[in-house]
Amino acid sequence: MKLNKKDPPPVLLQMENISFRYGKRSILNDTDLTIEPGTFTSIIGPSGCGKSTLLYILGGFLKPDSGNYLFNGSKVYSLGEFGLGRFRKKNIGFLFQDFRLLPFLSAEKNLALPGAFTGKKLSIQERHELMHSLGIFERRKAKPAELSGGEAQRVALARALLLKPSLLLLDEPTGNLDEKTESEILQVLMKLKETGLALVCVTHAKSVMLHSDRVLALQEGKLTEVNLKPEAAPKTRTKKAGTIKKRKTSEK
Ligand SMILES: Nc1ncnc2c1ncn2[C@@H]1O[C@H](COP(=O)(O)OP(=O)(O)OP(=O)(O)O)[C@@H](O)[C@H]1O
Ligand SMILES: [Mg+2]
Repeated sequence: MKLNKKDPPPVLLQMENISFRYGKRSILNDTDLTIEPGTFTSIIGPSGCGKSTLLYILGGFLKPDSGNYLFNGSKVYSLGEFGLGRFRKKNIGFLFQDFRLLPFLSAEKNLALPGAFTGKKLSIQERHELMHSLGIFERRKAKPAELSGGEAQRVALARALLLKPSLLLLDEPTGNLDEKTESEILQVLMKLKETGLALVCVTHAKSVMLHSDRVLALQEGKLTEVNLKPEAAPKTRTKKAGTIKKRKTSEK
């Protein structure tokens, strides 16, 4: 489909006035967020501000107390448990902060799991190609305890990608990686972005922020855009995240 220049960018998901509390503590407070396909958004903020909570809500794991969450135009949290499970399998890849690999299975068998649960047959060749691109093919027979932190992280990333999600949620994906591996992973993520995958990544790493199309800071339950190049525009924008436009492709 050829887009007319005047057409608004396609929208993958929209959060409207989302609020979430843990007991009396407000974590998200009337937050808006719009994500388009093929974009990379970094989320930053101090420990405990609610970054992981935001990812769980985006991934269909945690129902907000109020507000709308629309994915491809449909209200996610109007779905029942079964529908939410299907939504997650069809659309979401999640790289958790603690990887969550199964300790008794080899790296390769951990990768076979998403296929086993959904009944979707994953070819061995497909799995091997993914492991090659992430530099973990040689370690495929190893169990998680025999993997380094960075290797385990890459196996978990491969697993998150296996069902070809439209949204990849990453919770501090480069925390255990050396510079070279981090840069290789970022290259893989950039290629995925070009295929239309939307990425939302919680991170503290400047290198990851610099690869993203925009950086949003979570502060007191609200998302605001951060300008990483203060010399170009000295002020932090306080515009609502939901109204921020994707940068032009010519800037890449
Ligand atoms: N199940 C829960 N019940 C009550 N409070 C919780 C629960 N899970 C998280 N919290 C609290 O909610 C706040 C936000 O948690 P969250 O994990 O989203 O923070 P975060 O920004 O991801 O932090 P970090 O950078 O340390 O990973 C924290 O103060 C946390 O202690
Ligand atoms: Mg967290």
